[in-house]
Amino acid sequence: MGDAPLKENLAAGLIRLSGWTGTTPLVDPLCGSGTLLIEAASLAAGHAPGLNRSFALEGWADFDDDLWREEKERARTRQEQGQFQPMIIGCEQDPSIAKQARNNAEAAGLSHLISIQTGDFRDLQLPEGPGTIVCNPPYGLRIGADQDLEALYGDLGAMVKTQASGWDFWLLSGNAGVTGALRMRASRRIPINNGGLDCRWLHYQVR
Ligand SMILES: C[S@@+](CC[C@H](N)C(=O)[O-])C[C@H]1O[C@@H](n2cnc3c(N)ncnc32)[C@H](O)[C@@H]1O
Repeated sequence: MGDAPLKENLAAGLIRLSGWTGTTPLVDPLCGSGTLLIEAASLAAGHAPGLNRSFALEGWADFDDDLWREEKERARTRQEQGQFQPMIIGCEQDPSIAKQARNNAEAAGLSHLISIQTGDFRDLQLPEGPGTIVCNPPYGLRIGADQDLEALYGDLGAMVKTQASGWDFWLLSGNAGVTGALRMRASRRIPINNGGLDCRWLHYQVR
């Protein structure tokens, strides 16, 4: 696992809130173990959440086994046909976390959709857009204050403004004090509870 990975259901919700439909590129420049990328790829591939696990409702007295099997079959067919083949790119500076992200994509059966680059987001070249950037940068709360967060957010804002004109930019913020360093004005601020931390899913329309 990377530093402070997001819960899968939270990441899936964040991707849905972003309005990304799988038809344009999606990039996470600080992807950690790749949770946002995997949930995005899963959405694009038409994966039904929990398809390969059992549910408590299967033990209910009025459970309809035939109907359940039919629905699972339909979900599997939809998954096999796939829906979209978007470009989904992650960048992670820590080689061992980047490797973990690749392993996680592989384990989810989505490595054909996700490409993880090892390196600093400052060297990342965005694909031709417009597209969507999603990210969950370090906040300095859980991870420790040993990083120059203001410089990191400042450089992230600069990268977005120079490369991502016309893109949507979503950032999960747990530290309102550092998001100002982006030097961008959010058009939406959605309150999010991230494992007990009061966060905001911030949307920026990049001009
Ligand atoms: C909060 S974690 C992201 C967690 C991720 N959303 C997940 O669920 O696994 C932030 C990540 O940003 C990475 N990072 C920090 N500075 C970076 C930089 N300059 N370029 C690329 N990645 C960076 C860290 O190594 C860390 O894995």
